[in-house]
Amino acid sequence: MSKKIFSGVQPSGNLHLGNYLGAIKNFVELQNEKDSECVYCIVDLHAITVKQNPNELKKNIKETLATFIASGLDPKKSIIFNQSSVSAHSEGAWILSCVARMGWLNRMTQFKEKAGKDKEKASIGLYAYPVLMAADILLYDATHVPVGNDQKQHLELCRDIAQRFNNDFNSPDFLKVPEPLIQKHFSRIMSLKDGTKKMSKSDPSDLSRINLTDEKDEIINKIKKAKTDTMSMPGSGENLSKRPEVENLLGIYASLSSQDLKDTIKQFSGKNFSEFKENLSELVVEKINPISNEIKKLLDDETYLSNILFEGFQKADKIASKKIKLMKEIIGF
Ligand code: TYM
Repeated sequence: MSKKIFSGVQPSGNLHLGNYLGAIKNFVELQNEKDSECVYCIVDLHAITVKQNPNELKKNIKETLATFIASGLDPKKSIIFNQSSVSAHSEGAWILSCVARMGWLNRMTQFKEKAGKDKEKASIGLYAYPVLMAADILLYDATHVPVGNDQKQHLELCRDIAQRFNNDFNSPDFLKVPEPLIQKHFSRIMSLKDGTKKMSKSDPSDLSRINLTDEKDEIINKIKKAKTDTMSMPGSGENLSKRPEVENLLGIYASLSSQDLKDTIKQFSGKNFSEFKENLSELVVEKINPISNEIKKLLDDETYLSNILFEGFQKADKIASKKIKLMKEIIGF
């Protein structure tokens, strides 16, 4: 059976190494598998759940698209489009928000983190955002959803919503219950400044993350300043979880070199941190620099980028409008 893949990335600027290793790198691998049909979405409706500057948003949509292409996504093999261009996403989200329960959404830890102390001031969109995410996935009958670890709970909610809809409307198997594809290792890349916090676009410190548009000197500087500890490089994985910064840097090295963490630990055992950091910088520059150069080139070709989004919209809209039509019939519209 062929795999139907759906995933999305928010165009909120500063796409970073966590987005790349946790998601985009896998998007490319899945696209290149023989039996897969992939749909990758720039989720601009999700981005506006927090305040956006309209001009910046426009720029970030293009930059996210350029990042997809520069990382190896091929619009001839995958459907790549902008969420707001396909109206079925908003319609589906509304219908499913009448199926999802408050109690389920109240459990979402990401909302609690993002809303912070003053939940009263958070937008309703931020609260309901996992329902929109469920609509995204379910409209395309996705069987598998590649995401980083932070999206796991949202995927579980999506599965609950699909099952509830099928039950409530006595339409078994109408909404396909998707499987999350979360890598066993390195599915949560941490901040370079604090190994207990995930690497994030919203961290006020740019030193906490490696952006996919960073220049060579910036990458070297950020890795040089990355937090470590006073002990020497570990000789084994034992107790590594008590040294989260070191574990994270070793994990980044292992992931970028497609190596087992065990082998990376062995390679640097007994060496000093500065030597490890030099090696890590070289590897990150080697992998990220070609992507950032390509992003810059692509951003100069506005017509090429707009055409990709238009073609992607046409293909995505065809699939999603068929599904939403059936969904409306099922609920009695
Ligand atoms: P977003 O835009 O926050 O992140 C995009 C992808 O990057 C992953 N990611 C990470 N992985 C590892 N380490 C990190 N530090 C890290 N930070 C981010 C995320 O897990 C994600 O896979 N709600 C989603 C977007 C979305 C979506 C969807 C995803 C909307 N609709 C449907 C899948 C299917 C989000 O905000 O991702």
